[in-house]
This record gives sequence, structure tokens and C-alpha cells, in this order.
Amino acid sequence: MDTLTVELGARSYPILIGAGLLRDPALLDRHVPGRDVLLVSNTVVAPLYAKSLAGMLPGRRIVEAILPDGEAHKTLPNVSRILDVLVANRFGRDCTVVALGGGVVGDMAGFAAACYQRGVAYVQVPTTLLAQVDSSVGGKTGVNHAGGKNLIGAFHQPTAVLTDTRTLETLPLRELRAGLAEVIKYGLIRDAGLYEWLEGNLDRLLAREPDALAHAIRRSCEIKAEIVGRDERERGERALLNLGHTFGHAIESATAYATWLHGEAVGAGMLMAASLSRELGTMRPKEVDRLRTLLDRAGLPTEARDVPAEAALEHMKIDKKVKDGRIRLVLLRGIGAAYVTGDYPDGALRATVQAYHG
Ligand code: NAD
Ligand code: GLY
Repeated sequence: MDTLTVELGARSYPILIGAGLLRDPALLDRHVPGRDVLLVSNTVVAPLYAKSLAGMLPGRRIVEAILPDGEAHKTLPNVSRILDVLVANRFGRDCTVVALGGGVVGDMAGFAAACYQRGVAYVQVPTTLLAQVDSSVGGKTGVNHAGGKNLIGAFHQPTAVLTDTRTLETLPLRELRAGLAEVIKYGLIRDAGLYEWLEGNLDRLLAREPDALAHAIRRSCEIKAEIVGRDERERGERALLNLGHTFGHAIESATAYATWLHGEAVGAGMLMAASLSRELGTMRPKEVDRLRTLLDRAGLPTEARDVPAEAALEHMKIDKKVKDGRIRLVLLRGIGAAYVTGDYPDGALRATVQAYHG
């Protein structure tokens, strides 16, 4: 088992990564505080893992809140449902919310934990690759609004992240591919070595070789933990983690969160960011080609023809990184080096979006 730490002073917490750790009652007992535990999951993940997880926490009062599955359900009414269960069961401030699932469950359970009695403890138990490398770490919680993605939320750090890599055995291949987009993201923004490793080991990851997955998860979490430790509230450096997200969120919102997976949209979005960087002269054409090839091999989309360019540009305007009316973008100075800027010609952004959209 690997243990990393997100260093945030009194709110520091461990990320534990291992195969089968959800079957270790002593470990769970150590990392899930409180007698009262609300297990939040969804209709797909709960039947797979909730019963065995609850069985590993003897002596606790365990109540379940099972939500509908999917990004379209990452809404305030569903957070409200979690809060209703906490209230109905008279859970106090010393309870713990356990988020068992992918990023959708994790973001909503974390937001409910942030709101309930002004903040209770929660533990992330991520079961998708995307959640294991990204959403379970860093304390961003929240929901979508009809007007835009993740527009409502709070920063609230978990008390632990417990990643059992065995849960990936049941993950649909399309979801595994979507998670790989976020791993590629870490290579692009910070670690050319990881990027090269991905080029050499992508087939092993797609074949779910445990060692390869463990390496990708560990390195991704190391990078995310470092960045969050330095910039928890995204005053600066943390914005780099949004590479591809302004483009990607526009795809997701324009398609009502119904057809594109988050990771797929981020993948296509990263290629648009790389392509715009090439137009601005900060990225070499060869590097953009390398990215396209890697995304292709990962089975991720490299264009978004189903979304009209004008619709995408409209949705980009409500991105959270808009500052003084200007869309700030994460762009690249080559593989392994990202930067945030509002300084680019509008025409170049428009031309890039037009080149990838319908
Ligand atoms: P998801 O939570 O919808 O999970 C994907 C699908 O896989 C769902 O159908 C889910 O039920 C199913 N599933 C989950 N684990 C499974 C398993 N082990 N076996 C079989 N099926 C399983 O999607 P996701 O990709 O995990 O997360 C995407 C969400 O995460 C988005 O809402 C995105 O905004 C958010 N996100 C948040 C952060 C953050 O920092 N908070 C970072 C990145 C992404
Ligand atoms: N996924 C972006 C962040 O956590 O900051």
C-alpha cells in the first residue's frame, strides 16, 4: 500500500492507495471517524461495494443514501436528499459521510458534508480511475447548475482518501479511458516524464495491469497533492489543473451532461488548448501531434463535431476562470509546462474552437 499526504496544516490528510484495502477492517476503523456513518453512493456502485464496505465497519450506525447514477444528477436537489437523510437520522457534528463512487458521488457527498451543520467529516472512497487520480483529492465539492458546470460548491477537504485499485476491475472501459484523460493532464501540465511513461505504457493501463494502474494513480495523486498543498483555494497554481476544462466544460454544458463523459470532454479540451498554444507559438506542432496520437490510442475523442462552435463559445463565457469579463485559459509551453493567461487574440481562440467543433 502507498500512503501520500496532502499537506494542509491541521487539515492535512492521507491518501491510501492499495489493492483490496476496502477489505481491511482495521484500516477502515482507523480512517473513518465517529459512530454515525452516512454511506453515500449510487444505484450502480452501491450494489457492487456498499454492503461489503458496511460490513467492514462493525459497531457503527450506518445509514445509506443512494442517489441516481450519472452527471445529469449532480444537482442541488440530490444534495438536499443527502441532507434530508442526515437530518432524519439526527446525525450530529461528529458523524462521518463516506463517499463511495466516482466523482459525481464524491462531489455531492463532499458538498453535503461541507453544508451539514456547517461542516462534518467526510472520507472519499473513489471507485473510478478519474476519481482516484483527481476528484477525490483536493476538497473541491459541489454540483452543476443548468447555467453551467460546477457553478455551486465549496472547498471542504476530506479527512482521508481510501483508494482500492481493485474497484477498477468492474469499471466500464469507456470510464477507464475517461480517467486516463486526467492522468494525461498531469503529464502535460507538470511532468514530461509521466507523459513519456504514458506513451510507453498506455496498453498496460488499458489492460488494467495492476502495477501500471498503481503507478499512474500514485504519480497523479503526488502531483495533485503538491499543487493543492501550495494553493488550496486556487488563487494561482491550482488553476493549472483545469487544463482543457474551459473547452471541456463548454462541451459538457452544451450537451446537457448527457452524451459526453467529463474525462472525454477534458481530453478533447486539452487538444484544443494545445492547438491554440501552437497557434500562439508556445507549443511545437510535433507535440500537438503526439497528444492527438496519445488521446487516439486511449480511445478518447479528439474533436467535438456534435457541438456547434458558437454554442461552445457561448458556454465558455460562464467558466469560473473568467476574470473582468475575459476568459482565462490554461495553455501549454510544451509537454510538461502549463501556464494560465488571459493574453491571447480572441480571433485565435475562435479559430481553434471552430476547427474542432461543428
Ligand atoms: P461518475 O461519478 O459519473 O462515474 C462514472 C460511471 O461509473 C458512473 O456510471 C458510476 O456509477 C460508474 N462507476 C463508478 N465506479 C464504478 C465501479 N468501480 N464499477 C462500475 N461502475 C462504476 O464519473 P467520474 O468520471 O468518476 O467523475 C466525473 C465527475 O467528477 C464530474 O462531475 C466532474 O466535474 C467531477 N470532478 C471533480 C473534481 C474535483 O476536484 N472535485 C475533479 C475532476 C472531476
Ligand atoms: N480538478 C481541478 C482541481 O481539483 O483543482
